[in-house]
Amino acid sequence: MKILVVGNGGREHALAWKLLQSQQIKQVICIPGNGGTASLPGCQNLPLPVDDFEGIERCALVHNVSLIVVGPELPLAQGITDYLQSKNLKIFGPTQAGAQIESSKHWAKTLMQSAGVPTPDFEVFTDLAAAVAYVKQQGAPIVVKADSLAAGKGVTVASTVDQAIVAVESLFKNGFSTVVVEECLSGQEVSVLALTDGLTVRPLLPAQDHKRIGEGDTGENTGGMGAYAPAPIVTSALKERIEQEILQPTVDALRKRGIDYRGVLYAGLMITPKGDLMVLEFNCRFGDPETQAILPLLETPLEELLLACTEQRLEQLPEIKWKSAAATCVVAAAGGYPGAYQKGQVITGIEQAEKLGVQVFQAGTQLKQQQLVTDGGRVLGVTATGESFDQALNSAYAALNCIEFDGMYYRRDIGHRLT
Ligand code: AMP
Ligand code: GLY
Repeated sequence: MKILVVGNGGREHALAWKLLQSQQIKQVICIPGNGGTASLPGCQNLPLPVDDFEGIERCALVHNVSLIVVGPELPLAQGITDYLQSKNLKIFGPTQAGAQIESSKHWAKTLMQSAGVPTPDFEVFTDLAAAVAYVKQQGAPIVVKADSLAAGKGVTVASTVDQAIVAVESLFKNGFSTVVVEECLSGQEVSVLALTDGLTVRPLLPAQDHKRIGEGDTGENTGGMGAYAPAPIVTSALKERIEQEILQPTVDALRKRGIDYRGVLYAGLMITPKGDLMVLEFNCRFGDPETQAILPLLETPLEELLLACTEQRLEQLPEIKWKSAAATCVVAAAGGYPGAYQKGQVITGIEQAEKLGVQVFQAGTQLKQQQLVTDGGRVLGVTATGESFDQALNSAYAALNCIEFDGMYYRRDIGHRLT
């Protein structure tokens, strides 16, 4: 079987790596892929943009692929699934209508309300003055969100009214037409990525991400600086509740709206100090870096699960099998990220790092004349597994010591909530 993976992050490297572990998979093609997928045995990169649907279609036909797996949200929100399905190709990922669960916060909030899924109180604004008046009336802390996709830069958790007003003003100034203002919650965040075929839901192991750039969860939000799985805070009782109170009602509500959602439903949850569950956001795709921590623990062949979703027969599959181990991924970023950063810095030490038994998933990297150089903000993720989180973290950090590039930055406190 050949599989086509769309995207170029650490998530896509991890997907390609996991797929190629299966006896059934002969080749993975990555569009456009990165330095990691370029040197992964059995994997081939094709330099096409992720929104070149016709190019992706041609590639799928020429290579006779059995399945197309979409990593990032943008092509899903642009309708890649609708397009490729109309060409009779098999694709893992929701349609444009389903992807609204991530591409419009307002749409997702309304869906949650109709499904009785708990989510923070909110108001939606298309007018600056009304939004500012509401922020003043509510007081701080308060959360301001762009309604539409904003490449991870659309959310401000404001600790003062002034900060919230600046955030609202800057969203409208930057061309966002709709802004969501939301109650601010405290607690622990967890990411639950579930596979669904539009009827049945199968959650993967729960993970915790580290969104902020700075140690102690300080500074700006990023795409995610590290993750671990399975998150111990999600007890089996909580897992059951997440499935029954959040995931299944959401898929049922999508179906009621005529949306046949086949792909990943990723719930970004807050567990409040009182033990309440709230959905902060849904994503329509695999999380990154969460996927880099989850997939190394997966024992069931990944393609069996993905195909069962696209063919709507998830219910017939046996339970997903997992290694009984802890996994952690530490992300190394380019200096300056999530602000401005340099590209083209030479990366060394990955081979030595992997000799220590870890997996280095590459994200913003490129093979340039046989030399691996940086090509993005989050450059790579070092994933280690172990019998305990301590073991896994020690391995990941020991491996990071081998890797170098100019300006390399990583958080040294990944897993701090575990103690
Ligand atoms: P989102 O893209 O909606 O997940 O927001 C990005 C990040 O902002 C989340 O991972 C949280 O850390 C934070 N956040 C979002 N909504 C809230 C909220 N209502 N209360 C507190 N923090 C939030
Ligand atoms: N790690 C957060 C995300 O994938 O959205």
